[in-house]
Amino acid sequence: MGKFQVINHPLIQHKLTIIRDKRTGTKYFREVVNEIARLLAYEVSREMPVEDVEIETPLIKSTQKQLSGKKVVIVPILRAGLGMVDGMLDLIPAAKVGHVGMYRDHETMEPVEYFIKLPSDLPDRQLLVVDPMLATGGSAVAAIDALKKRGATNIKFVCLVAAPEGVKVLQDAHPDVDIYSASLDDKLNENGYILPGLGDAGDRLFGTL
Ligand code: PRP
Ligand code: URA
Repeated sequence: MGKFQVINHPLIQHKLTIIRDKRTGTKYFREVVNEIARLLAYEVSREMPVEDVEIETPLIKSTQKQLSGKKVVIVPILRAGLGMVDGMLDLIPAAKVGHVGMYRDHETMEPVEYFIKLPSDLPDRQLLVVDPMLATGGSAVAAIDALKKRGATNIKFVCLVAAPEGVKVLQDAHPDVDIYSASLDDKLNENGYILPGLGDAGDRLFGTL
C-alpha cells in the first residue's frame, strides 16, 4: 500500500485557511495555491536520491552531493492542477510538464478525459501528479490509469485537500502511488464536494464561479 502523508507544516495550515475562506478572491487564491504547492514540493522531494560529485571550491577539492534520481515530470490534472504547477517548478525548475485533461461530470460524478500530452520516456521518469482536490478519487484514478497505460511506473500524487473516501479509492486502485496532501478533511457531501473543503478549486482559481 502506498503511503498517505498529510504535510501539516504551520505555514501550510495558515495558507490553507486563507484559500478555504470564501472571501478570498481569485488573485489571492491563485497566489496562495502556488505558495502551498511550493511548500509541498519541498516535502515531496525529501526522499529524492543524491550522489557524490567531485567539485573544487575556491579553496579545495571536495566531494559533495547532487540529485541523481529519475528526471521529474509534473503532471497537472486540468484545469485545477494548473494552479499548482508554477509553485512546484519554483523548487524543481528542470522538471518537464505533462498535461492530463479530466473533468468530473456533474450528474454522474464520473471523470471524463479530454486531453493528454506527455513527455517521452515515461518509464524512466518520476511523475508528480498534481490536483488541488482528491474528492471521490475518480479523477486521480483515471488520470493515473492513463499515465500507466502510456508506460509511467513511478508516480506520486500531490494535492491540497483530500477526503477520506478519495484516499481509500486511490490507494485501492493504485497501491504503488504515494499520496501527499496538505490536509485530510472530514468527508464528502451528497454532491461529492469535500467538507469543509474550499469549494470548486477550478472555479476559484480561474474566476469561473
Ligand atoms: C475537480 C478537481 C479534481 C476533481 C476531484 O476538477 O480539480 O480534478 O474535481 O474530484 P474527484 O476526486 O471526485 O474526481 P473538476 O472536475 O471540477 O474540473 P476542473 O478542474 O476543470 O474545474
Ligand atoms: N472538486 C472540487 O473542486 N472541489 C471539491 O470539493 C470536490 C471536487
